[in-house]
Amino acid sequence: MYAAFRSIGAYVPTKILSNADLERMVDTSDEWIFKRTGIKERHIAAENETTSDMGVEAAKIAIERAGIDKNQIDMVICATISPDYFCMPSTATIIADKLGLQKVMAYDISAACTGFVYALSVAKAFIESGMKKNVLIIGSEKLSAITDYTDRGTCILFGDGAGAAIISATSAQSEAIIDVHTGSDGAYADLLMTPNGGSGSAHDEPNREEAGCFMKMKGNETFKVAVRTLTSDVVAILEENNIASSAIKHFIPHQANYRIIKAVGDALNLEEEQVVLTVEKYGNTSGASIPMAINDIYESGRLQEGDLMLLDAFGGGLTWGSALVPFAGKGK
Ligand code: ACO
Repeated sequence: MYAAFRSIGAYVPTKILSNADLERMVDTSDEWIFKRTGIKERHIAAENETTSDMGVEAAKIAIERAGIDKNQIDMVICATISPDYFCMPSTATIIADKLGLQKVMAYDISAACTGFVYALSVAKAFIESGMKKNVLIIGSEKLSAITDYTDRGTCILFGDGAGAAIISATSAQSEAIIDVHTGSDGAYADLLMTPNGGSGSAHDEPNREEAGCFMKMKGNETFKVAVRTLTSDVVAILEENNIASSAIKHFIPHQANYRIIKAVGDALNLEEEQVVLTVEKYGNTSGASIPMAINDIYESGRLQEGDLMLLDAFGGGLTWGSALVPFAGKGK
């Protein structure tokens, strides 16, 4: 039995936070943000809109496009670092309930921007082992809830949104997800973290309540490790599977920074049309960024059945991952 990437869906909240808006909030400029990151705007969830709400909307679309009955789903995984609730219940269980899926195995993955690739790897393993048949994987983030809007080093980067996919069992090898790479190195944990609020911080730590869960990032150091790791990981997955970069129809990297994406694309000798870019309009949506980008090329008619996708992600942890995935759904 093989695992096939059957469908994609996404949800983008309506409110837009532009670079001009940020100029009024912190000491920054549209010129600096665009030049250093490639971001023009990002979408922000409504105050009462949760990570699970956005995940549900993306999931409904993915389920419909997969052409399955929702009751055929036997596992729900949500990749997120901005869950509805700290610790428990998991956002995946809330999404499953809102979709009307009772008794299904559901849990969250915490691997920051690599979360969707980790979820894909778990779905593939459960399907190939014969334990599950239709796995709903979701990347959903309300990063605005954990962003410090007084810190110009991070608040210009992040946005909200969700993407979802159905991974299904198939006997057709041509549809099979070819390979998924995943890795981590906790020695770099301090590059990108929410330092307070967990068991690693003292109860009487100052500002525990106020700023406890805001993201802190050593941007420049993270940038260098990101370029190095993303490049070496995609080179390895292509070599191990004996696939030339010219065979990749869509290179879909995590959308953190245009300069990182450009450096990795150049290292792989990719043509411009092979590289999927959404960072300009969505910013960095962490675990949601790759499925939102896949949905973008689906919606615009660029993604067709059989197209080979190369996914590449990097995030807090540090974590990283890549995947070689033929699209096993019908194009739009
Ligand atoms: N506006 C204006 N100036 C700024 C801003 C801003 N928003 N932010 C920083 N600066 C200043 C700095 O203070 C610094 O000034 P100085 O030279 O006087 O000290 C200068 O700009 C350069 O700062 P750097 O941090 O070196 O800028 P850099 O070119 O590295 O860009 C950025 C910063 C955009 C954050 C970049 O480092 C980056 O994209 N890092 C990687 C992010 C990433 O991939 N994260 C992993 C995934 S995210 C996740 O897992 C949730």
